[in-house]
Amino acid sequence: MSPTGSTGPGVLRRLRPFRVGDEDDLADVCLRTGDSGADATGLYRSSRLLGDVFALPYAAWSPESCFVLDDGDRVVGYVVCAPDTTAFDGWFRLAWWPPRAPAYREDRGGATRDRAAVAYADAVGASPAPFVDSHPAHLHIDLLPEAQGQGWGRRLIDTLAEHLRAEGVPGLQLTAGARNTAALGFYRRLGMDELRRTDDGVTFGIRLDRAG
Ligand SMILES: CC(C)(COP(=O)(O)OP(=O)(O)OC[C@H]1O[C@@H](n2cnc3c(N)ncnc32)[C@H](O)[C@@H]1OP(=O)(O)O)[C@@H](O)C(=O)NCCC(=O)NCCS
Repeated sequence: MSPTGSTGPGVLRRLRPFRVGDEDDLADVCLRTGDSGADATGLYRSSRLLGDVFALPYAAWSPESCFVLDDGDRVVGYVVCAPDTTAFDGWFRLAWWPPRAPAYREDRGGATRDRAAVAYADAVGASPAPFVDSHPAHLHIDLLPEAQGQGWGRRLIDTLAEHLRAEGVPGLQLTAGARNTAALGFYRRLGMDELRRTDDGVTFGIRLDRAG
């Protein structure tokens, strides 16, 4: 697996598996796409909070299910995944989040966004995740603006789907925020099934155990 593409003067990007050392770039990409796809820099008291909730735990728990887009200097995009959401959520709740949460709780002050992210993390694993019988895996995908709109998002999802299929995982899901209209358009364009729609967002699914 190493699709490459020339995407500008002197830029040769390639997809590759996550490796230890990518963590800071993952956290940076997560923050710079963390406001419904737009840059969330400065919107959180801690620049690491979003990464510690939405990207880094996946790379720690299931690094083989995480893939990155590398431009030669740094990671400019990623897809991270928990192949078994129920197991991941339990681990996140018991092992990943407790040592990190206190600093973010102290840090959050009156900041609404920090509070919301901490509340989200506090709730992971508190109740069973939906759709896990048919779609046990879930993902998060983010690309910096300079890497968007060139087919890399589709390739990252295809690469992950191929990996999960080989592992015998029957389905994959993700949830996109209602305000992230570009991501909603992307997932629909990829032909994902709409599993659930609420005021907060849309959960999409892909079955990996069926042809077509
Ligand atoms: C959303 C995101 C992952 C999509 O990745 P991308 O590399 O920009 O998308 P691609 O270039 O691979 O597009 C794949 C297909 O989706 C289509 N597509 C992309 N954005 C679309 C949109 N807003 N509306 C409709 N279709 C869209 C493309 O036209 C393309 O179609 P084709 O392959 O049939 O020609 C990426 O733009 C991104 O990271 N955005 C910021 C962070 C974010 O919002 N992450 C998702 C959080 S839920």
